[in-house]
Amino acid sequence: MAKYILNSVDETIKLGERLGKSLTEPVIIKLDGEMGAGKTHFTKGLAIGLGVEEEITSPTFSILNIYEGNVMNFFHIDAYRIKNIEEALDAGLAEVFRDDGVVVLEWGDILTTFFENKVIEIKIKYLGDNKREMIIEGWDDDSTRD
Ligand SMILES: Nc1ncnc2c1ncn2[C@@H]1O[C@H](COP(=O)(O)OP(=O)(O)OP(=O)(O)O)[C@@H](O)[C@H]1O
Ligand SMILES: [Mg+2]
Repeated sequence: MAKYILNSVDETIKLGERLGKSLTEPVIIKLDGEMGAGKTHFTKGLAIGLGVEEEITSPTFSILNIYEGNVMNFFHIDAYRIKNIEEALDAGLAEVFRDDGVVVLEWGDILTTFFENKVIEIKIKYLGDNKREMIIEGWDDDSTRD
């Protein structure tokens, strides 16, 4: 487990970028945090790190957005409106969790039964106007290794 304090939007984006650059295998990144915590900004950084050239937008209504990265595809999922397993299957999410790509999953607690790839868990907490705490589990970050 690693804990980070981010003092600006830029620091949050940079951390996302660093995580994205470090990924060499398919992974599911569970992203938790209240509205306005910074999930989308962190994801923007992650996409940059993966080599996605498109500007990423929130999948609030689309549920699933797909982007092409340098090495792997990038799937951004907002499962807030997915209420049961049937709806998840209809949205094609089971296949996504099995794909050789990187998945960012928001509001996806009911979908864990679909996970086949490795999981990284991230919790973002609001600490103040520009300050956030980020706890990351399952990422072997070079900068925090003893
Ligand atoms: N250190 C920080 N990291 C990330 N965002 C920050 C930070 N400081 C301030 N902010 C602001 O907090 C907001 C975060 O918005 P963002 O859309 O990323 O949140 P979100 O978690 O995706 O919210 P939602 O659940 O509504 O989609 C932005 O307005 C951003 O400018
Ligand atoms: Mg968002």
